[in-house]
Amino acid sequence: MKISVVGTGYVGLVQGVCLAELGHQVTCIDIDERKIERLNEGISPIYEPGIEELITRNVAAGRLSFATPAAGWAPLLAEVVFIAVGTPMSENGAADLGYVRSAVASIAAEAPFPLTVVMKSTVPPGTGHVLQARFLGEAAHPVGYASNPEFLREGQAIRDFFEPDRIVIGGAAAEDLARVTAVYQPLVERCEAEGRECAIVSTDVASAETIKYASNAFLSTKISFINEMANVCDCVGADIDAVASGMGLDTRIGPQFLKAGIGYGGSCFPKDTRALDFISTLNGYEFDLLKAVIDVNNRQRLLPVIHLSKALPELHHSRIAVLGLAFKPHTDDVRESPALDIVPLLLEEGAEVTCYDPIAAPIDIDGAVRCDTVWEALEGASAAVVVTEWPEFIELDWARVREAMTGPGIIFDGRNALDPDAVATAGLSYMAVGRDGAHRR
Ligand code: UGA
Repeated sequence: MKISVVGTGYVGLVQGVCLAELGHQVTCIDIDERKIERLNEGISPIYEPGIEELITRNVAAGRLSFATPAAGWAPLLAEVVFIAVGTPMSENGAADLGYVRSAVASIAAEAPFPLTVVMKSTVPPGTGHVLQARFLGEAAHPVGYASNPEFLREGQAIRDFFEPDRIVIGGAAAEDLARVTAVYQPLVERCEAEGRECAIVSTDVASAETIKYASNAFLSTKISFINEMANVCDCVGADIDAVASGMGLDTRIGPQFLKAGIGYGGSCFPKDTRALDFISTLNGYEFDLLKAVIDVNNRQRLLPVIHLSKALPELHHSRIAVLGLAFKPHTDDVRESPALDIVPLLLEEGAEVTCYDPIAAPIDIDGAVRCDTVWEALEGASAAVVVTEWPEFIELDWARVREAMTGPGIIFDGRNALDPDAVATAGLSYMAVGRDGAHRR
């Protein structure tokens, strides 16, 4: 099938490239000329493992191309047009739908034949109905609408695309549902051939939109719940790893998203939980549980600073290494990363802060020293905070770390990812989140 994908960010680029890999003829569209130029040179604007290989292969096979709509949208549009533009958080927590509206308006105005607009961007429940009423009714050709939320995790988005738990398609017209289902038919067949089940959930637009928010809100709830349990573990001297694995073996609970630490970040959970809270309030309903999830997460990221200020009376004269800036490993994305709160707080306390991340772009925080290697960051530091569980940090030579660091040599493991014994054996002081009351000792 011929397919267009609007937006070449984390969602759109993965979607476009993977659809081409499935055999479709895909045009990826973006208004950012520089991005398109670089994509045409085979350079990905995002760090996502495996993406450049897929770009090169599919461009070479003639299935994938990149273009800007500068010369008009009509030549770039296919019978199925995915929208995957950003829906950033506004000041009040609502999703900003400016880019979505602009893309849908342009497509409706210039559609050269009947087509289906498929919303991949995360938009609040009800948005589909509003967009259809506002833009699609006046299109020169019939333009249908469907919602197809994404469930890809950054850093493993390509694997998530090819191994989905489910594909959710929301639409009112049978024709639109059929078109989108046809897009995914090769993926369903591929999953079947590999012995994996891939359910297609066909529903109405508002329910599809809501499934996306409900899924992200529930996963965020799991994380805040386990983080609250970790704090209780610290009070009662229990070990959160043992508690989480004991809970996770119950198939009704499941083991995933029960990793305690300094909380969730990224462009999705913080934004989507706040947007869902906003929509609920706007509709006259106070979603108290979700508000608590958000509060717990905001509090959790302060833990390293709270504990270091107790453990290091000389924090204001100390050097603290912040290891990891990305919101999670295997991505260069620093959006809503706990590091963005931790670094300024440490600076406010008067500490000298050195930062290192193997991949993430530098964060622009006045006063923080950006280092090129982990050793540079650790040199002379009294404490280190592991914000992101990059393999490089898990595999550190702890004896060498001890030599590089000064004073008590505190390692605050914000992701409960390190081997506490290996750290302690090297003569360093290990602190974590709910691991056997470790950070109270
Ligand atoms: C998340 C969802 O997992 C995807 O299904 C969804 O498609 C995506 O948001 C989106 O809405 O676009 P992502 O933000 O890439 O994906 O990352 P996750 O792997 O879900 O991690 C989110 C945050 O939760 C990270 O900061 C991670 O460190 C944290 N986390 C995750 C925990 O603190 N504990 C856990 O057990 C799991």
